[in-house]
Amino acid sequence: MAVQNNPRITEQLEAWVKENKGHAVLGTTAQYIPALGKVDPGKLGICMIDEDGHYYCAGDTDTEFTLQSISKALTFVALSCHYGLDFVLERVDVEPTGEAFNSIVPFEIHRPNKPFNPFINAGAITISSLLPGQNAQKKFEFLKGFLEELLGHPIEIDKEVYDSEWATSHRNRALAYYLKEAKFLELEVEEALDIYISQCSIKVSVKDLALLGLILAYDGYNPITKVKHFSEEIAQVTKVLMVTCGMYNSSGNFAAHVGIPAKSGVSGGIMAAVPPKLHSQTYEFRAGAGIGVYGPAIDVQGNSAAGTMMLRQISKEWDLSIF
Ligand code: DON
Repeated sequence: MAVQNNPRITEQLEAWVKENKGHAVLGTTAQYIPALGKVDPGKLGICMIDEDGHYYCAGDTDTEFTLQSISKALTFVALSCHYGLDFVLERVDVEPTGEAFNSIVPFEIHRPNKPFNPFINAGAITISSLLPGQNAQKKFEFLKGFLEELLGHPIEIDKEVYDSEWATSHRNRALAYYLKEAKFLELEVEEALDIYISQCSIKVSVKDLALLGLILAYDGYNPITKVKHFSEEIAQVTKVLMVTCGMYNSSGNFAAHVGIPAKSGVSGGIMAAVPPKLHSQTYEFRAGAGIGVYGPAIDVQGNSAAGTMMLRQISKEWDLSIF
């Protein structure tokens, strides 16, 4: 079932990176966070990992970047692991909003009794504030430890990105005040924002995202180390969220044209989980895979422009859609 460490696959990925690089012109780097705005918009890199631990990497794979909204999927998993899924779903819903990721509109218009989902900023800041620990620092340490266990190596915050976002987070601050008023936050506004911005500023590589995607694809199990990190139930709900809300207001299009549970971030990263597909029409990655993509020019919805187009091609050619 394994793909084998096949140079043909890497060559194919190299070709697709070249073909799709030009789509970066359809987006721009995230200007609202100055440290993200100034990076080279033309980069494009991808890494795929199979269940035997073989990595297939092409393009700009050496650049590190920050997790940004990809962290929202991981804090959801971490919190669910600690307190159970019921605890989390009592506090944050699993409904898409049809609004921008940082919108305040759903609160004003619908006045919901909980944030719509963990992937919009309102839900994500709420989740960050609920992490186990008596203060912001302990809560972030819990998350850091959880991620280091999944990745098998230490992680760090990109201080420049953290400072840049902290200084310009006016909208997230406003959102956090709404959350505080509605009694969703377990911390003070500035403390909850500190955790949220810290998790968004964690440095990763496309290899890291690929491994995280593989663990999700295998329902919380790492097929390489044989460690079970979280339950099938948590993995399933996370993947449902990735399909319905992971690419924000492009989630429907992404499901139709790519069909892989995925989570994007405004740094241009995408983490995707390809579950095993025994009846696939091709042999590539039949036993599932994790995918990490980096392409910092993002479209209006906040997703990597070139990265999304490349995933569309890969999914089509290798029949990776879950639908
Ligand atoms: O809250 C923000 O604006 C960023 N730290 C994260 C947003 C993000 O990545 C949205 N995703 N595409």
